[in-house]
Amino acid sequence: MGKIEGKRVLITGASSGIGKALALECAAKGAVLVLTARTKARLIETRDEIRAVFPYTTAPLIFPCDVANKLDVHHLIKSCEKKLGGIDVLINNAGIGVYGSIERTVPEDYSSIMSVNFLGAVHCILGILPVMQKAGEGLIVNISSVAALYGIPYLGAYSASKAALSAFCQSLRAELALAKIRVMLVYPGYTQTDFFDNEKKVGGGLRPPGPYASPRRVARAIVQTIQKDTRDLVLSLEGKALHFGRSLLPGLVQRAMLRLTKKLKETKRVENEQTKTKNNSPFSKSWRKPGLLRPFSSASAFWSSSGWSDS
Ligand SMILES: NC(=O)c1ccc[n+]([C@@H]2O[C@H](COP(=O)([O-])OP(=O)(O)OC[C@H]3O[C@@H](n4cnc5c(N)ncnc54)[C@H](OP(=O)(O)O)[C@@H]3O)[C@@H](O)[C@H]2O)c1
Repeated sequence: MGKIEGKRVLITGASSGIGKALALECAAKGAVLVLTARTKARLIETRDEIRAVFPYTTAPLIFPCDVANKLDVHHLIKSCEKKLGGIDVLINNAGIGVYGSIERTVPEDYSSIMSVNFLGAVHCILGILPVMQKAGEGLIVNISSVAALYGIPYLGAYSASKAALSAFCQSLRAELALAKIRVMLVYPGYTQTDFFDNEKKVGGGLRPPGPYASPRRVARAIVQTIQKDTRDLVLSLEGKALHFGRSLLPGLVQRAMLRLTKKLKETKRVENEQTKTKNNSPFSKSWRKPGLLRPFSSASAFWSSSGWSDS
């Protein structure tokens, strides 16, 4: 797609974390932005921050919208057409989390996560497709997750929602191959955002300790990839190891998952160990036991940083 400058970019979930960082990064490159999320006050904050940092770029339009609501999305797209005459780039970023064991995750948790992470993106894609088809071109960027590459323990509902999004986008990409509408999938690894405060915790498993990537770094990599016209972007060492490992070394990945399940299992013993350990940095000795994975030294920091190591 080349330069993002002057392109009309619609970002969902733009009031926080990766979406907000994407808005700032796109504004820095001179994009014309439409920002959406449910909470108007936080959208206003984001818009004002962009205005303050980049006073000479076009002020972003903001539009509160729940992507899980088809009618809301319909109004959003109509408003984009009316105010900007269309959209060149849609970034499906809005997302929520559910963390914990599958046995504690109730059917309603699957419904709510699928309605935002999967159907929310589907609503936006179906809404924007006629607009892009009319224009004869466009780019649809979808923020999936490393958890879509393989079912991660304690992320069953989340992994399923992101895997559904990825599969849908792969089908869409094939169907749009002859049109000039491109579909990009981004698989971020752990990123330090409010996501973990907002997610529903059902219990049974613990989140691995950091380090988590900064949203700014993630956003920068995404915008670079948009400008380079690459189809997929797998971020983080853990994501890249999983991406290659699942096809080349499936048994090893499966064993790593079993170890991760044991390591993150929420028991009193684990909780106490984690709170008592003064230095629980992923690079401290207690977290640096690659075991079976030792030969794959380039990936060992990842396995250990994700807690994917022997306990
Ligand atoms: N953080 C990570 O480690 C990580 C890793 C991989 C992938 N991701 C993905 O990256 C994306 C952004 O996550 P984040 O980490 O930046 O989380 P975040 O800080 O919690 O931001 C989520 C954004 O989505 C919006 N949102 C949530 N539900 C919505 C709905 N129904 N309709 C419209 N907007 C909605 C939120 O605003 P409102 O609440 O105001 O609506 C917020 O702007 C998500 O798709 C997430 O799955 C995150």
